[in-house]
Amino acid sequence: MSNKLSNLSNKQLTELHQTFEAEFQKEKLARATRAEVSIDLTRGKPSAQQLDLSNNLLEAYSVKDLQEYQGMDPRNYGGLDGVPEAKSLFAPLLGANPSELIVFGNSSLELMYLCIHFYFQFGGQKVTPWSKEGSVKFICIAPGYDRHFQITEKFGFELVTVGFNQDGPDMDAIEALVASDKSIKGIWCVPKYSNPTGHVYSEEVIKRFAKLPRVACQNFKIFWDNAYAVHDFEDTSFEIPSLLTLCKQEGTQDSVIMFASTSKITFAGAGVCAVAASDTTRNELIAHLGALSIGPDKINQLRHVKFFGSYSSLQIHMRNHAKIIAHKFNLVLATLDEKLSDYDWAVWTKPRGGYFVSFDTKPGLAKKVVSLANELGLKLTPAGATFPYGKDPKDSNIRLAPSFATSEEIKPAIEKLALSVKLATLAQMIQ
Ligand SMILES: Cc1ncc(COP(=O)(O)O)c(C=O)c1O
Repeated sequence: MSNKLSNLSNKQLTELHQTFEAEFQKEKLARATRAEVSIDLTRGKPSAQQLDLSNNLLEAYSVKDLQEYQGMDPRNYGGLDGVPEAKSLFAPLLGANPSELIVFGNSSLELMYLCIHFYFQFGGQKVTPWSKEGSVKFICIAPGYDRHFQITEKFGFELVTVGFNQDGPDMDAIEALVASDKSIKGIWCVPKYSNPTGHVYSEEVIKRFAKLPRVACQNFKIFWDNAYAVHDFEDTSFEIPSLLTLCKQEGTQDSVIMFASTSKITFAGAGVCAVAASDTTRNELIAHLGALSIGPDKINQLRHVKFFGSYSSLQIHMRNHAKIIAHKFNLVLATLDEKLSDYDWAVWTKPRGGYFVSFDTKPGLAKKVVSLANELGLKLTPAGATFPYGKDPKDSNIRLAPSFATSEEIKPAIEKLALSVKLATLAQMIQ
């Protein structure tokens, strides 16, 4: 248990502030003198070292493989829903049957955008397009993934914020909202190692999600983005229950679309994405995609199939990612502990996988901390980004994304963050 800053006298706070102000100015000057480049903890990108793990992908599919391939010619148009071998490979990633998958291009976010567009403008086989229903709303669990929120903001949805409990999103609040307000058309979810909080939804929470469409409007959709399905730091990888399977038991399977991609498994810019859904949803999505494309990059899909060979080798590949990335997270957490555990300066998550640490300053300080850290040469995600409309009502959440920085950069980066937090906190307290 750390000491409480509120127990310090004004004199003690002022003295501490002077100490940290001097340290801050010294650090700023030293940085200017050394002409240091900034350290960037803004976005959850795989590092070059992680990308190198998949370099053999570039040689994985040869002319011989092509000649021996029994399926449709992957060089040509067609195969809109992906090659069967890729569906089989990625089905366990999504917790679905291969026949429930569409394997498409390189970006799951693009598919999410397309799905929102489809249900907004065209609607499903038996469901009204959202755009025909006047003002519509979407639930955003926050802190969450800014790019999800941006998609629904762009389509003019009113974004409704719901927070977290220990075991996942606040289901009482979600159930009450969708039952009482039929203009709520859907919800964004990242069920495993949620971006940025690291939450893993419990079985109980996922079961409640499977029942949710029963009390919601008829064209309600759950966007289930399992982007971090196999991104565990520890050796024992575990799976969360499949929402689609649970929905089938509840008769709600047409209300869920599950997404995943290999962006953080192979190449973030040249991976493969997949979606799993009920037959009805899958068929309507394929029909929609048919207007957009004559078929995805099937050679890249087969390249991934050849590179991995099996799902278990994909899991082994993820252990190699873990060795690189878990070390960086340990450095972040150790430095935060070292620098900020003497007083209640801030709180932060200790994720067991994924790409982020979620860091909360005292209310009203996140923007200030981000700007101070920037002066010291540390680039952080803009404060507020993890909330709908980029507005954190408490101005306290900062998303830390340490994957792209080098191990050598992490400790100095977190030291700069800690110094900025101390200075901003004390300045606020002695005002
Ligand atoms: C939750 C989540 N979903 C999706 C993405 C992007 O996925 P893709 O690269 O497949 O478009 C990210 C990237 O950071 C993410 O954090």
